[in-house]
Amino acid sequence: MASLSYLFCVLVSLLNPINCYGHSNPEAEHKALFVFGDSLFDPGNNQYLNASEEGGGTSWPYGETFFKHPTGRLSDGRLVPDFIAQFAKLPILPAYLQPTAHRLTDGANFASAGGGVLVETHPGTISLPTQLSNFKGAVKSLRQKLGDVEAKKVLMRAVYLFSIGGNDYFNLYSQNPHATQSYRTQYVGIVIGNLTNVLKEIYSLGGRKIAFQNAGPLGCLPAMKARNPQLGSFKNGKAACCGSGAYRGMNCGGGRNRTEPYELCSNPSEYVWFDGGHTTERANRQLANLIWSGAPSVTGPYTVKQLFAHA
Ligand SMILES: *[C@@H]1O[C@H](CO)[C@@H](O)[C@H](O)[C@H]1NC(C)=O
Ligand SMILES: *[C@@H]1O[C@H](CO)[C@@H](O)[C@H](O)[C@H]1NC(C)=O
Ligand SMILES: *[C@@H]1O[C@H](CO)[C@@H](O)[C@H](O)[C@H]1NC(C)=O
Repeated sequence: MASLSYLFCVLVSLLNPINCYGHSNPEAEHKALFVFGDSLFDPGNNQYLNASEEGGGTSWPYGETFFKHPTGRLSDGRLVPDFIAQFAKLPILPAYLQPTAHRLTDGANFASAGGGVLVETHPGTISLPTQLSNFKGAVKSLRQKLGDVEAKKVLMRAVYLFSIGGNDYFNLYSQNPHATQSYRTQYVGIVIGNLTNVLKEIYSLGGRKIAFQNAGPLGCLPAMKARNPQLGSFKNGKAACCGSGAYRGMNCGGGRNRTEPYELCSNPSEYVWFDGGHTTERANRQLANLIWSGAPSVTGPYTVKQLFAHA
């Protein structure tokens, strides 16, 4: 059931308001990407946590399509931020917690499967406030390496990509299905309040170009189909490629103890879902294309391509 506890769906109304400022700088071709988020963006940070909260992604067949081995990503291949990095001519960003040297001038990926905006949403994963602390650690290293002035330039030119909030709302609906409207409103206020604080801190450190993949626990597939005709091109939009039970919705990779039986499809690219809660590489590529250069009705007011192009 590990994957189900992280389940949340991708809505394709992808980018919310973005602001960009900055001064033109002809040398500024190379721009960093900083990634914050949950399982949709986690490139394997959770495998460095205690209490094995990683929730899968570290066992075969995760990673089979592109990396050819499990990386901690909850997909058969690349995730949206991996594609965005490639579109921006950056290397694929490794997990920030991976204990090897990082080229922070390319950015960093702090995302954690199961993570929420609120620290109490999924204890044992990396909540957004802790992702922010890790980002501050990265900023400190950048300053040591480049000096304050150059580090600030990197931070101002960088793009900050988020996918977060889905687990907070999933918790609300699963743990408190009969919550009153006023409780829900209050809860949303707390999530937005905490998210706003994090964005303000990133802004105060120099961040100006912020992009959101808008996600939520509701209305997954019909919404995708209705709003994204491209995703209608998949042969199988309902069942997962990997798993057992109804729609192969759980136990991909054998579940938590890796011994549960499961089925695996032969061609993940025919599927939207790789496991019960996470999209295939092919679906991720299509989502990344929309974020990168989708039409204004889907991605706006700026596309991520425009954010990278902006000085
Ligand atoms: C994991 O646990 C060890 C001791 O058991 C501790 O030193 C370390 O800081 C913990 N790491 C994380 C990421 O919580
Ligand atoms: C942030 O979340 C905590 C709960 O984790 C809540 O008590 C606090 O009021 C929230 N802050 C804002 C500004 O909404
Ligand atoms: C693995 O976990 C399942 C429950 O999820 C349990 O029924 C099974 O006995 C466990 N297998 C082993 C070898 O621990």
